[in-house]
Amino acid sequence: MPYLEFNDATFHYHVKGDGPVALFLHGFPFDASMWAEQMDDLAGLRRCVAIDLRGFGRSERSARPVLTMEDHADDLATFLTKTSVVAGVDLVGLSMGGYVALAFAQRYPDQVRSLALLDTRATADTEEAKAGRDVAEALVVREGRSAFAATLIDALLAEEASPWMKARVRTMIEATPTETIVAALEGMKQRPDRTQVMAHAQIPMAVIVGEHDRWVSVDDAQRMAESTGASFTVVPGAGHMTPIEQPGAVVSALRALWLKT
Ligand code: MLT
Repeated sequence: MPYLEFNDATFHYHVKGDGPVALFLHGFPFDASMWAEQMDDLAGLRRCVAIDLRGFGRSERSARPVLTMEDHADDLATFLTKTSVVAGVDLVGLSMGGYVALAFAQRYPDQVRSLALLDTRATADTEEAKAGRDVAEALVVREGRSAFAATLIDALLAEEASPWMKARVRTMIEATPTETIVAALEGMKQRPDRTQVMAHAQIPMAVIVGEHDRWVSVDDAQRMAESTGASFTVVPGAGHMTPIEQPGAVVSALRALWLKT
């Protein structure tokens, strides 16, 4: 399990396989372990790298009161320089990882070979979504991570998800420092609309969404794909956590995307 120090913090990441680099970005409040199945299955095709974003997973705790998508994008750029990746990456991001992927694609367009966006959106938070984040912050501060996880688990996964899948998601949420949860909620509130970043990108792009995702509806994801020229895949039997709930379907969608690079 490698660690690397840069930008005043120590970052943890997983690496598997050889070939062009695919960089996997986890959602909120999760960590890089959510990509384990995809890294196993795609290691013959890519050097699969999954990083714990600043403040998450086994990366160093963060003292920043706000963790913006731009902060994470800049960390990734330094990470790629430090690990001598010069040929660009196939970016794969779920939900908040998708917001980060779009921030990265905007700031470092030459570094992105393809973009896979799972269960995410290119638009900014609505006022309602921002208010929901304030409620979430108050809840996690008042009642702690377990209570926060309890409010999320059933909403994150499809009804058919196994207890083991639910346990995996709970473990990730409970292992995320409370201050990271609050700082990330603040950072997500601040993110701008990046629909135009996608619309202008001249690279292969895929939008992938779980059939039962309660965070990003199939209709919203389809609109996002159609307005930006991305391919569109609905993953049957999955909620918001498609890589954990239906790992094989996500692997197939990524293979199909990468054939276009
Ligand atoms: C995620 O899974 O990363 C979150 O649902 C993103 C969000 O809260 O907008």
